[in-house]
Amino acid sequence: MIDVQRDGGTAIVTVDRPEAMNALDLEHAESLRETLAELAADESARVVVLTGAGEKAFIAGADIKYMQSLDVLGARRWGELGHACGNLLETMPKPTIAAVNGFALGGGCELALACDLRLASSNARLGQPEIDLGVLPGWGGSVRLARTTTLGFAKALILTGRPVDAEEALAHGLVNAVYAPDELREQTLELCRGLEAKSAVALAYAKEAVNLALQGPHRTNLDSEARLFAMLFASEDQKEGMAAFVEKRPPEFRGR
Ligand code: CAA
Repeated sequence: MIDVQRDGGTAIVTVDRPEAMNALDLEHAESLRETLAELAADESARVVVLTGAGEKAFIAGADIKYMQSLDVLGARRWGELGHACGNLLETMPKPTIAAVNGFALGGGCELALACDLRLASSNARLGQPEIDLGVLPGWGGSVRLARTTTLGFAKALILTGRPVDAEEALAHGLVNAVYAPDELREQTLELCRGLEAKSAVALAYAKEAVNLALQGPHRTNLDSEARLFAMLFASEDQKEGMAAFVEKRPPEFRGR
């Protein structure tokens, strides 16, 4: 089951498949894609959190038993399905956060990497073990792991298949913060409440500008930033944010 719960303006998406450490089979991966597509278009969802049910696993990857019998075309479609989930997390016009509450392996690590931010519990294990299955990361990991950390760290994880603990992940920038397992949910929600209070339109444009940073021509990206920055001066939120600073009061953003 892919469960969605609301906490204020935050939508918490939980992969709930305990019998397989929340690994994604076809049914769950399709359901996750539909859920993310709905939340991308839902203005009442200001922040989206992705997590796993239970205390052991975030998502232990793509379902190996399902993949076992795929042919080339099936594997291509399967890869595209995972990529669709990752692309939604990466590009939806609102912050996406992975609350990594245990094993985030293979496709699980790749979906976490597609999120804007990653918070981990101290018992989390992250990695790309596909090499030991005779394949390579198929849901964006070969690209996003190198972009998020370094080329050297990405090669170390992808070529050896070695998982890392939360502290090592933090040291390499693979996760943004580490919390005790019983604190992860509250710390994640506190971050979400902070993001909910910001201008939704400024967050969306900021995400778009930063997403461009590591792709395409540098000058074009700087031009895009200048365009997005200027466009925000048409928003009520820019007027409110700057007026609030001058008047020494907290801003009240409306997302317009
Ligand atoms: N696919 C299918 N089933 C999985 C699974 C996965 N990725 N991960 C765990 N499971 C299942 C196990 O088969 C087991 O089911 P059975 O009881 O029916 O045998 C159940 O979940 C519990 O798992 P374990 O008994 O193995 O639990 P553990 O605590 O000993 O180990 C684990 C946990 C380290 C996560 C281990 O299960 C594991 O290594 N899982 C596979 C991780 C992996 O290789 N992920 C990458 C998949 S490839 C991929 O994702 C490709 C891609 O890029 C798209």
